[in-house]
Amino acid sequence: MAQLTLLLASHNQGKIREIKKYLASLPLKITSLLEEGIKEKFQEVGTSFAANARGKAFFYARFSSGLTLAEDSGLEIENLGGAPGVHSARFAGEEANDEANIEKVLTLLEGVPLAQRKARFVCWMVLVKDRQIITEISAEVAGYIFEEKRGTHGFGYDPIFFYPPLKKTFAELTPEEKNSLSHRGKALFQLKEFLKQYLEKI
Ligand code: IMP
Repeated sequence: MAQLTLLLASHNQGKIREIKKYLASLPLKITSLLEEGIKEKFQEVGTSFAANARGKAFFYARFSSGLTLAEDSGLEIENLGGAPGVHSARFAGEEANDEANIEKVLTLLEGVPLAQRKARFVCWMVLVKDRQIITEISAEVAGYIFEEKRGTHGFGYDPIFFYPPLKKTFAELTPEEKNSLSHRGKALFQLKEFLKQYLEKI
């Protein structure tokens, strides 16, 4: 029997890398928007991670014959009233890159001591099949915004997200370490358990 396809509904190659690595052992054909040549862009205008993830999942599910996984995630900084939140990818402007977004955060927090730089990464996943949500998962991880960039791994705000239990930023972790404790890694753990049971039933 042909393998079921899982379309990863994201243009963010950092996310795609992490999700593919985590789910690689499942009997699924995992593909992405880039690999399928899907250039359409979903406008993320929702005010919550859940709303954006659901919107993305349904928007891209029309290109998928199997499962579609959408994920919305971001960084919430207590001292900035939860910003950048759902605007994490475009915090420094529509065309902003990771570098510019990090600079904006560091500038806004200039002079604020580490103890007052509490932050969390949030991840919301939605899995759709046949135009229906079959599961939703959310997870988060707490840390602090470091005063400067450290490390070269990961993507997005990883170089300034300090994780106290390991005394390292996320960009100083190996991909395996990050996946074992990050917001996305925790969500992926639950998703993998769900998918194992789901695939056994069909
Ligand atoms: P979106 O979910 O595609 O709207 O974008 C999420 C944005 O949040 C990314 O572009 C990053 O800026 C940030 N983000 C989400 N997850 C992570 C992560 O694991 N590390 C660093 N930044 C992240």
